[in-house]
Amino acid sequence: MSNIGVIGTGYVGLTTSVCFSKLGHNVIGFDIDKEKIQVLNSGKSVIFEEGLEDLLEQGLKSGNLVFTNDESSLKDCDYYFLCVPTPQDKDGSADLSYILNACSILSKVAKKNSIVVTKSTVPVNAWREISNYLNRSDLVIVSNPEFLREGTAINDFFNPDRIVVGSSNKEKSVEVLELYKNKVASFVITDNTSAELIKYASNSFLAMKLSFVNEIASLCEKVGANSKDVLLGFGQDKRIGDRFIQPGPGWGGSCFPKDVRALLRVSEKNSQSMELLIATVNSNEKSFARVVDKLENLLGGSLVDKKIAGLGLSFKAGTDDYRESPAIAIIERIIGRGAHVSAFDPVVEIKEKTNFSKFSSLIEVLQGSDAIVVLTEWSEFKRIDPSTVAKLVRQKIVLDARNILDKDAWERSGFKFESLGNWA
Ligand code: UGA
Repeated sequence: MSNIGVIGTGYVGLTTSVCFSKLGHNVIGFDIDKEKIQVLNSGKSVIFEEGLEDLLEQGLKSGNLVFTNDESSLKDCDYYFLCVPTPQDKDGSADLSYILNACSILSKVAKKNSIVVTKSTVPVNAWREISNYLNRSDLVIVSNPEFLREGTAINDFFNPDRIVVGSSNKEKSVEVLELYKNKVASFVITDNTSAELIKYASNSFLAMKLSFVNEIASLCEKVGANSKDVLLGFGQDKRIGDRFIQPGPGWGGSCFPKDVRALLRVSEKNSQSMELLIATVNSNEKSFARVVDKLENLLGGSLVDKKIAGLGLSFKAGTDDYRESPAIAIIERIIGRGAHVSAFDPVVEIKEKTNFSKFSSLIEVLQGSDAIVVLTEWSEFKRIDPSTVAKLVRQKIVLDARNILDKDAWERSGFKFESLGNWA
């Protein structure tokens, strides 16, 4: 078993820590946030992620998982996984300051001849800067991008499609690969720069795929086609694939928007224009606007002084993360056109002040509303009984921007119902 230090205990770091400890490694999760460390050591997760708290408890109980904010505890690790955030800088590029802070700790405490693994999404060629900053010729840097989706991160860790490891030292890359004890996933062993680019290319391609799907769904409405059938037929071609083609209000989250912009910055810096990516960003903005236009049309052409019930705030179901959430982007645009929005989400808690009202029960949100718009695909929204809702609302109008509701059931209760792309 290996001794692994994980620097950063956010979505990626915490998942990586508990999963490596489940595989039997000795894991030290390090974070500068003392409060977080206390909470984690008491067995409580600091994020909402399916299955994570169970693994956390198991790891702490077995004694092979511990969290600390003491830098010196990291001195005996063989591998250091950098899992700190790389937020977006003012110009769209990724901000490396957290990574470099972590490197300054490692340059002091890292064990001789150990391996520093970059798991956070870092800009292409960041490994060079990391190497300079570490200033330790005995340390090898292996780039090992994460492909974890929030909400299914634990499953993605244990059942990845592929594991990518890149460095100038193939043996060290293989060592990192072997930590995953994965006999099934494909793997790619490459250099650092290519490994870093694989991550950006993957997220950007997926965002582009979704924008295309959303445009096709919108075209379905114009030409009278059914997007569910169109995408079913389209996805059956194995070269296209039937996964990740669910039309929605637009893509968001803490990764796609940031990574697409970061790749655009890389392309600009290298005088290599990426036209498809520019179009992808514009297309996503338009998909938010399309949802608002549809709602306005359903309400007879004006949103002024209308009371809208927004169902869902997280950027997708299964997470409490609302960073760059399409739900919030759309709510802001609805408010911008003069409406009042009341929102409900089963897990998101926004502590800051917002220009929309937040309620902790569906009934309060639906009461007296002129229209309901479904913005996140939480399964509990599928179970809402339209006949009960009919008694609460002022006008019976539903826009299902996630294509999850049963149109017939809502129409039977007298609702004017629309999905995206004539889905239902
Ligand atoms: C994404 C990638 O999928 C992961 O592989 C990657 O590791 C991660 O970013 C990251 O860089 O850390 P995540 O941000 O958790 O994962 O979310 P996704 O499940 O990819 O969804 C992104 C957005 O696309 C969401 O707004 C979601 O609602 C939307 N989406 C997704 C659709 O509209 N339709 C789909 O069929 C799938």
